[in-house]
Amino acid sequence: MNSDSSSSLIIDEQVFSHLPVLPQEIIAGLAVSAGGHYLDTTVGGGGHSRLILQTAPDVQLTAIDQDEDALAAAKKELAEFGDRVKFIQSNFAAYQFPDATFNGILADLGVSSYQLDTPARGFSFRHTASLDMRMNQQASLTAADVINEWEEAELADIFFKYGEERLSRRIARRIVERRPFDTTTALAEAIASAVPPKYRYGRIHPATRAFQALRIVVNDELKSLETFLAKAPNALVPGGRIAVISFHSLEDRLVKHGLRNSPLLRVITKKPITAQELEISNNPRSRSAKLRIAEKIN
Ligand SMILES: C[S@@+](CC[C@H](N)C(=O)[O-])C[C@H]1O[C@@H](n2cnc3c(N)ncnc32)[C@H](O)[C@@H]1O
Repeated sequence: MNSDSSSSLIIDEQVFSHLPVLPQEIIAGLAVSAGGHYLDTTVGGGGHSRLILQTAPDVQLTAIDQDEDALAAAKKELAEFGDRVKFIQSNFAAYQFPDATFNGILADLGVSSYQLDTPARGFSFRHTASLDMRMNQQASLTAADVINEWEEAELADIFFKYGEERLSRRIARRIVERRPFDTTTALAEAIASAVPPKYRYGRIHPATRAFQALRIVVNDELKSLETFLAKAPNALVPGGRIAVISFHSLEDRLVKHGLRNSPLLRVITKKPITAQELEISNNPRSRSAKLRIAEKIN
């Protein structure tokens, strides 16, 4: 089976854990070793960074996140490592990757548990909050701008493309009929009202895919990922590793092709590494994680 077409979009709105996903697989996959310098481009809560820093007392880490709140939380979480860690607030696509510097580079894509669990950030329809969804709070485009101002056809298009939502047209029509929307929950209710009952009581909430699409658009996530995949390999030392964890098929497809098509890399994972049963039961978010790893050619 072709993993591109078979991997469907699975989004776990209800279950989100603070544990870093695929922890051993990341440490082994990046071949973290004494004296190495690693780049965590999505430090989030600092879970993976902590594991990397704990591997040996002289490991150095550069930690990036575009979310200033995440970066502040990571600074606290990693304070004990002192000047072994350098923090940078940036989109990983905008980061000036230095040449041949890092022994390993990690990207653990998507939103953090902190972002999902903080109602004011507007990522989740579990809480009533304003329609925001910006990972970088300085960015100008919000989810409210998209929902209230974009044409019906554009909305249908993004729900279909970035949410893999089959009912994209109906949902877009309902939104345009009922807008403006101010809150996550009002939007989720309108979306639920647009779909047939069977769909309304399925495994995932009917608004899940549309919310996913909105988040991708607001944060320009796929473009950032493509830029990252083009720029990051040059920042590895020869033999250095790059590891990318994705959570849905659109991302995984870009990662698979980006690593494979880079003339600087040799892919190590023919198939993506996925979580074992034990991890899935402790950390449900790991269920949809796919890890791909490549090595810089000498
Ligand atoms: C899934 S969380 C990372 C969790 C982290 N690995 C841990 O163990 O705690 C993803 C983080 O990446 C950040 N992020 C997502 N896309 C980004 C981008 N393009 N540039 C920089 N940071 C990004 C988000 O703000 C979020 O904090």
